Amino acid sequence: MSYQLSEEQEMLRQSVRRLAEDKVAPRAAEIDEKDEYPWDLKELIADQGLLGAGIPEEYGGTGAGLPSVVLIVEEIAKVSAAASLIVAAQELGMMPILVGGSEAQKQKYLPGIADGDQIAAFALTEPNAGSDAGSVKTRAVREGDKYILSGQKCFITNGSIADVFTVFATTDPKAGLKGLSAFIVEKSYPGITIGKKEHKMGIRGSETTEVIFDNCPVPAENLMGKEGHGFKIAMMTLDCTRPVIGAQAVGIAQGALDYAVSYAKERVQFGKPIAMFQGIQFMLADMCTRVEAARQLVYKAAHMIENAGKNNVSASEVGRFSSMCKLFASDVAMQVTVDAVQVLGGYGYMKEYPLERMMRDAKITQIYEGTNQIQRVVIAKNLLSD
Ligand code: CAA
Repeated sequence: MSYQLSEEQEMLRQSVRRLAEDKVAPRAAEIDEKDEYPWDLKELIADQGLLGAGIPEEYGGTGAGLPSVVLIVEEIAKVSAAASLIVAAQELGMMPILVGGSEAQKQKYLPGIADGDQIAAFALTEPNAGSDAGSVKTRAVREGDKYILSGQKCFITNGSIADVFTVFATTDPKAGLKGLSAFIVEKSYPGITIGKKEHKMGIRGSETTEVIFDNCPVPAENLMGKEGHGFKIAMMTLDCTRPVIGAQAVGIAQGALDYAVSYAKERVQFGKPIAMFQGIQFMLADMCTRVEAARQLVYKAAHMIENAGKNNVSASEVGRFSSMCKLFASDVAMQVTVDAVQVLGGYGYMKEYPLERMMRDAKITQIYEGTNQIQRVVIAKNLLSD
């Protein structure tokens, strides 16, 4: 399946690039240093309609679709991975509603998420349910017209600031992953406590916290799909959002490459710019090649997923490309940022330069929304099942 960016998508890229360079880049080091959520940037990004790009127009979004979300996240991540999570985490938090919610749930919740009035968070992971997502222990017990949720979620992006959580809990512990169910939980419901905020290596400035449910009553109408559909909803969500993490990885890598190239042209050693030395040239050539290959795979996956329905693309093909692009792009981001630090030598190691931040930020892309070992499991399973 081939793809081409449309004129609108190119224009979107240019306008997000301007926003990123003018407003986000000057704040990037400070966000990392202070580890504070950038509310000012969230408002700017929301005002541009960028939080609604992945949401269809009938639910208050712009209907631009996944390929546009990917462009938005890539451009912001070039200057600040943490700021790009304002978009990426909103996308992840709302996606279960889009793929698994009823018409009424979509009408009720998506417009507020699209315009940024409501912040969304995806609450799947638990202390003992990471890669093994099916082993979630948070319990949902039906009592009349409510489910009572109890359990502990961890590593929840937007945990402390979310208005709406998409929560995965078991309604039938004996059924394993087939007992998982998905719920929309509003922050205002009783029995929700925000636990400890994590102090992270990278993506500092994004709020990663525990979220604890203690006998939290959730209206039965907030169940998405049917009881037992939760695991599928979680997996279908990740199929759509892993390319967004791939895009974040491409952005981080491109930002690091751009910086390394301009530094290599300026930095003089042995009487000439270090860019004149083949040792540096070969590193830059490899970095550039990897970044472009990763970008093409991410764009292809995003277009394929967006148009899967009308092109009869199978679910296993969708899952495979989603995982392949996230796997490849995040490994590229790690390699390229490490090499970019190397090009700067001692300066690359110092906080005065942005590359050590980019290197720290790159690492999470190999871990969240499924480790790269899990991506390989998914790729192989889907490849062999066709
Ligand atoms: N779409 C629809 N259904 C799917 C599916 C998909 N993509 N993938 C699996 N399923 C279905 C299967 O068809 C199967 O159903 P049937 O039995 O009816 O056929 C069922 O789900 C179980 O599938 P598997 O046997 O493949 O499940 P598994 O347990 O062997 O493997 C896994 C699943 C791939 C390892 C999965 O658990 C996984 O992706 N784990 C990683 C979890 C993850 O990514 N967590 C990240 C959390 S979010 C985050 O990190 C962000 C943050 O904010 C920090």
